[in-house]
Amino acid sequence: MANSRGGFSNRLGFILAAAGSAVGLGNIWKFPFEVRDGGGAAFVVMYLGFCFILCTPVMATEIAIGRHTSKDPVGAFRKLGHKKWSFIGIMGVIAGMLILSFYNVVAGWTLGFAIEMFQGNFEVGSNFGSFVADWKTTGAYATAFMLATAFIVSNGVSAGIEKASKILMPTLLVMVLGLMLYALSLPGSAEGLYYYLVPNFSAITMETVYGALGQAFFSLSLGMGTLLTYGSYISKKENIITSSAFITIADVGIAFIGGLMMFSFLGFVAHEQNSSIMDFKGGAGMIFMLLPGSFSSLGPVLGSIIGGVFFVLLSFAALTSTVSLLEVPVAFVVDEMKVERKKAVWGVAAIIFAIGMPSLMSAGGVEFFTEIHFMDWVENIASNTMLPLGGFLISIYGAYVWKKKNLYAEIAEGNPNFKYTLLAKYMEFALKYLCPVILGSITIVTI
Ligand code: PFF
Repeated sequence: MANSRGGFSNRLGFILAAAGSAVGLGNIWKFPFEVRDGGGAAFVVMYLGFCFILCTPVMATEIAIGRHTSKDPVGAFRKLGHKKWSFIGIMGVIAGMLILSFYNVVAGWTLGFAIEMFQGNFEVGSNFGSFVADWKTTGAYATAFMLATAFIVSNGVSAGIEKASKILMPTLLVMVLGLMLYALSLPGSAEGLYYYLVPNFSAITMETVYGALGQAFFSLSLGMGTLLTYGSYISKKENIITSSAFITIADVGIAFIGGLMMFSFLGFVAHEQNSSIMDFKGGAGMIFMLLPGSFSSLGPVLGSIIGGVFFVLLSFAALTSTVSLLEVPVAFVVDEMKVERKKAVWGVAAIIFAIGMPSLMSAGGVEFFTEIHFMDWVENIASNTMLPLGGFLISIYGAYVWKKKNLYAEIAEGNPNFKYTLLAKYMEFALKYLCPVILGSITIVTI
């Protein structure tokens, strides 16, 4: 698509970039512990249900708004003539900046751990406390990660984001499949998989239901205008419905395979430590603390290869997500403030990095910040409240303000028969009733 904002060169580029945004640390770093605590397969089924039943209609709406307007999330609502609704976009830009601020810190850890693993330093896991307490070093890793993210985004949509996704996503798939097969062969993997694949309905509480929904939104990068922004870079020929389905399938597919890999590894750790997966505490640092020690028992060479590749996998997954998180505020600054892309990228990245300092330091034990658990706090507000709220508002907007007629006309550009399908009827029902009721009540409860 040749206009001054740039655009994805084809459908594959768009899908890989959007799937890259979706597949991220959330799939591998957050998902397994949510599953373990939320009732294993019972949580997985609920999560899949939320993804397809509630999230895909919101995703298609976001993409349609973006493509119709060719604008950033704030400008899009203005261009449609609903200036008041542009606060959805403003909230999205803020949520994106907040999420990137802490996400980049964790992404920096993955980079640091990959380097440590390749050097055979398996003790780094048991010394996780001192690893993060050295916030100057973790700050350097976070800086490197932000620089890589900004470099990709500064090259533009097709030469930057799309090109990086076309390299990183296939590599990621090969790594996750390879590691999964290897992990399945380890002793203890079967016990590990028990906690993943066997449902435990008694663990389901209202809280786990909210958790599953929050995780679905976070994992699909929904509710903050990321898909709206990416949608603004696609051509009228694209079929928004099948693209949304592909993106969702790619994300849940990799989450599922990643789950097989993670639970096998965790089962192996439990086997090594003579404990149970249920004994492991959850939380941000868990994967970093648990796995490296067990990689060492694979022997110095194999251990450092498997460990190194594992953390490279996490870094790659993180990078395509940080790129999309940065693109949202950048698109806003480029479109609304008419700043040149490169300048916008470096300026916005610097601001986000600064916002991330308290998260970096709170993880690193700098007292003032630790007391308020800054990272958890930001994560909670941005992902568990702002994203479902964004999804709620987008469904209301699509159904009642922009209205079905216009939404479906935009979808019809690349899918002329859509409005006659059963899916169209379902999407109308979801946007009008299902999403507003469920997402609205969850937002109220979490606030
Ligand atoms: N989907 C990413 C993950 O699962 O790690 C996180 C994310 C990226 C959330 C981009 C929101 C977003 F806009």
